[in-house]
Amino acid sequence: MWTLRSVIFFIIVLWAGCDVCHCNIKQPTILVAVLVRNKAHTLPYFLSLFENLNYPKERISLWIRSDNNIDNSIEILSKWLNKEGKHYHSINARLDSESHGFDDEKGTADWSNDRFTHVINLRQEALDYARESWADYIFMLDADVLLTNPNTLKILIDKQKSVVAPLLKSDGLYSNFWAGMTQDYYYLRTERYKPIVNRIEKGCHDVPMIHSAVMVDLKKVESDYLTYEPKSIDNYAGPDDDIIAFALGANSSGISLHVCNDEIYGFIMVPLESGDPLEADIEQLTNLKLEILGYQLEIPVSPVLREFVKYSRKDTLGMDHIFMINLERRIERRLRMERCFDELGVEVETLAAVDGRKLNETILADWGIKMMPQYADPYHKRPMKMGEIGCFLSHYIIWKRMIDDNYKQVMVLEDDVRFEPYFRNKVNVVMGELKNLQLEWDLVYLGRKRMQEEDEPYVLSSKYLVHAGYSYWTLGYILSQTGAQKLLDAKPLNSLVPVDEYLPILFDKHPRANWKGYFPVRNLIAFSTAPLLIFPTHYTGESGYISDTENSNIISEDKIAARKNEL
Ligand SMILES: *[C@@H]1O[C@H](CO)[C@@H](O)[C@H](O)[C@H]1NC(C)=O
Ligand SMILES: *[C@@H]1O[C@H](CO)[C@@H](O)[C@H](O)[C@H]1NC(C)=O
Repeated sequence: MWTLRSVIFFIIVLWAGCDVCHCNIKQPTILVAVLVRNKAHTLPYFLSLFENLNYPKERISLWIRSDNNIDNSIEILSKWLNKEGKHYHSINARLDSESHGFDDEKGTADWSNDRFTHVINLRQEALDYARESWADYIFMLDADVLLTNPNTLKILIDKQKSVVAPLLKSDGLYSNFWAGMTQDYYYLRTERYKPIVNRIEKGCHDVPMIHSAVMVDLKKVESDYLTYEPKSIDNYAGPDDDIIAFALGANSSGISLHVCNDEIYGFIMVPLESGDPLEADIEQLTNLKLEILGYQLEIPVSPVLREFVKYSRKDTLGMDHIFMINLERRIERRLRMERCFDELGVEVETLAAVDGRKLNETILADWGIKMMPQYADPYHKRPMKMGEIGCFLSHYIIWKRMIDDNYKQVMVLEDDVRFEPYFRNKVNVVMGELKNLQLEWDLVYLGRKRMQEEDEPYVLSSKYLVHAGYSYWTLGYILSQTGAQKLLDAKPLNSLVPVDEYLPILFDKHPRANWKGYFPVRNLIAFSTAPLLIFPTHYTGESGYISDTENSNIISEDKIAARKNEL
């Protein structure tokens, strides 16, 4: 029975419990070990995101080694350490600017025996140092990891695992864990891999390998058995490789490795292949930054590191003009897109979209707008929203601008899109095809939602262009002046439908005959790039696997409706 005394006692215990467990206890200490070689391109972002981690810096010790560089990694590290280092508990850094590579390696991307031995020794040194200095945790972190989730350290600690890694995404399927291992201890793709990397099965997964961002709880007794040295592992049969030795050693000591994908923690660069020049990595970084921006995440650059960030000069990708349609009140979208344009090196004019909220009957009458009587949303049976009318008018204004300013070809972008890796090159290839094959064309979709099941035929002799079928969305397209003229000549304001219904009507692929009746001339020549080059930004909490296929039919109709209502 609950007596008053036991209730009071219980309340005191609860209160004291809280006090003891959370309020007055300092965060565990973490030694963060970072190896840096030729990372001048990633370091400004790596360090800035690291600085942004939501964890008391005085509880973090830094252990940093950098050597064998051919770039200015050491200059960047020194500048940052001089400015920011004082906030951390301690710094143990050895920045060696004398070494310039290993005798037995072929290029900076080659993993030679000497290089492996060196890295094994360094990682072991870090682990030993963390143990000797009584750190609660060691976080082994590579300098090409971008931790966009500021709570990563706290969350990983809360997992209470001996060894745990945050899932890191790349611009493709590469990640920082393996779901399988071959008989000779190398990477094996298994069925478990994709559901984890695409965050379809969320949680912390027991896997045979994690690397690049690995947290070890050194308070756990079993952690004493962990090692990076093949020679310290009984009956070791694997290669001289730091991460494989670590994984096999853990396994033979009965210690599980976990990768957690319950949140989006961060991103990782795909290692260069042997023989790749360093420039390939710089290009990849651009793609990765665009991928991160596609998740609507920030990539800050700390003031002291700004001088090390360089952007390429901007152009208009061979277009006469590039427009981005943006509602003036959606400032965050504009800023995100401008960051993307900086990365892409493209010069874009922001066109203030016609705001549906400011439209009313008088204004529609001024524009001479009449709705198509038959129009009803095929899924929701509703009339056109003011937002959709505003969206149409925004595109319409651009078509008119093309005629007024005599632009022969323009690119039109909406403001909630993400770009495929190597977007610039791919646009160049597509424009090259249009030219070399001497194709007559009016419109080329760069991003859209295909609405029909059947295959779309390739344009004759083309590798990257298909004849566009019924499609939704106007995320991005290239328009020729003849195309703009046709779109205007058909007088769409007299029988208005949403712009992504109007385009398929004019290229005569709309399924509804009665809608098409309003536009007797339907000769727009519309292609689409295949695969697509532009996609909608990732939805929060979404797995992000839409980008993996050209055919993005997986998106549910609810999401389409949600997107349309948002306009
Ligand atoms: C060690 O590896 C074997 C074979 O892959 C696996 O079945 C076992 O679960 C692993 N042990 C631990 C502790 O992860
Ligand atoms: C429509 O908006 C315009 C401009 O804001 C305003 O002048 C006009 O009175 C409005 N008309 C109606 C019917 O609300």
